[in-house]
Amino acid sequence: MTRAEELENRLRLLVNFGGVVSKETNLNRLLELIAEQVKTILNCDRCSVFILDRQTNELWSKVALGMQHTEIRVPFGKGIAGHVASSGLTLNIQDVYKDDRFTHEIDRLTGYRSRSILAVPLKNVGGHIIGVFEAMNKNGSQFDIDDEGILQLISSLAASGIENAQLYESLSKSQLETIYRLAVTAEYRDQQDTAIHLRHISEYSALIAHGLGLPEREVENIRYASPLHDIGKVGIADAILLKPGKLTTDEFEEMKKHTVYGAKILCNAESALLQIACKVAGSHHEKFDGTGYPAKLKGPQIPIYARIVSVADVFDALCMPRVYKPRWDAEKAREYILEESGKSFDPEVVGAFDKVYGEILKMQAIGDGKTTIIPGITKELHRHNY
Ligand code: C2E
Ligand code: SIN
Ligand code: SIN
Ligand code: FE
Repeated sequence: MTRAEELENRLRLLVNFGGVVSKETNLNRLLELIAEQVKTILNCDRCSVFILDRQTNELWSKVALGMQHTEIRVPFGKGIAGHVASSGLTLNIQDVYKDDRFTHEIDRLTGYRSRSILAVPLKNVGGHIIGVFEAMNKNGSQFDIDDEGILQLISSLAASGIENAQLYESLSKSQLETIYRLAVTAEYRDQQDTAIHLRHISEYSALIAHGLGLPEREVENIRYASPLHDIGKVGIADAILLKPGKLTTDEFEEMKKHTVYGAKILCNAESALLQIACKVAGSHHEKFDGTGYPAKLKGPQIPIYARIVSVADVFDALCMPRVYKPRWDAEKAREYILEESGKSFDPEVVGAFDKVYGEILKMQAIGDGKTTIIPGITKELHRHNY
């Protein structure tokens, strides 16, 4: 291959790489995918991705040991990866056994014989180091300056995918639990079965997003962000929120502020997911025809996340009893949603809702308190409920 052909070939692989990594939200599968791609693009024998764990100040990586995958951990600052993470500089080492930064520990564990290592820092959009990329044992030659540039480019392409996947991992545990507890605090006052309502909103919104043909990542974004839509109700007084009858005009004006409060609570967050949650909280009562609140946004001005959650929210609100109204039959609620197509709701979203309606009904049927948004949390919720 001429150099021009080689560059063209690499460019093609890189374009493909961008498409591949932007779709995978499972961190382990994503890391494996990236490693495979890097091996092909750089024509080397192995690729390791080390991820910085800020809690322990270690870098971890998954390595294949026989048929199994084991997690290995390197202290920040130690070994090749640790040096790259702490210095932020690229290292291109021809023979690591002659380099005293190399610790041999991983080779001893895996039985692998490292020769050349090209290691670049993995930085997020904010420029913070979130890990290290290593390509190992270039086939037939040494890693050159082109390889360095390409690995740096790959690393920047991969970083946002990795951060996103990490987000789901970390959010699905402690952070998610905190957020949902907050959402529950906001909602348990006015709803008998908050956990079920939040679960419904989450599942219905994801089903609709899927029905719309949104990419898997967007479906997951909506799944996790949607239960926070009414978090701003924490700012609404009991006298209004719990009023058994119809609200006066003034009271409803006050009630409308839950959208603005919710957006305020969530918008300071740095995480991409909470930014989406912020849009949902702020715009889930906007209407497609521009008659909603708080900003009277119209059509595509309303974030797609909010257009989806709005349908899920109204459908579930209608199907659940409220202090101010009895529950509706699902079929009556469905008819209402269809009637409001083009008025309250985006017709495309309503179309997707109708397409997945059967699955929504199935979800509704199993929402009997045995399902949990976060394992272990539902029981406790029921203690708070009246
Ligand atoms: P929510 O109870 O979660 O209801 C969410 C949305 O579902 C409502 O947004 C509305 O679009 C729809 N919805 C709920 N019940 C009905 C209904 O009986 N008929 C129709 N056509 N739509 C219904 P909306 O209206 O902007 O209200 C936002 C929030 O304000 C409600 O959340 C609820 O917390 C409160 N709210 C609204 N109306 C009343 C009321 O008359 N009394 C009390 N106490 N609270 C109210
Ligand atoms: C690494 O591959 O960066 C860790 C190997 C070592 O330095 O022991
Ligand atoms: C989880 O926290 O494990 C998933 C949350 C969900 O089911 O939406
Ligand atoms: Fe709301």
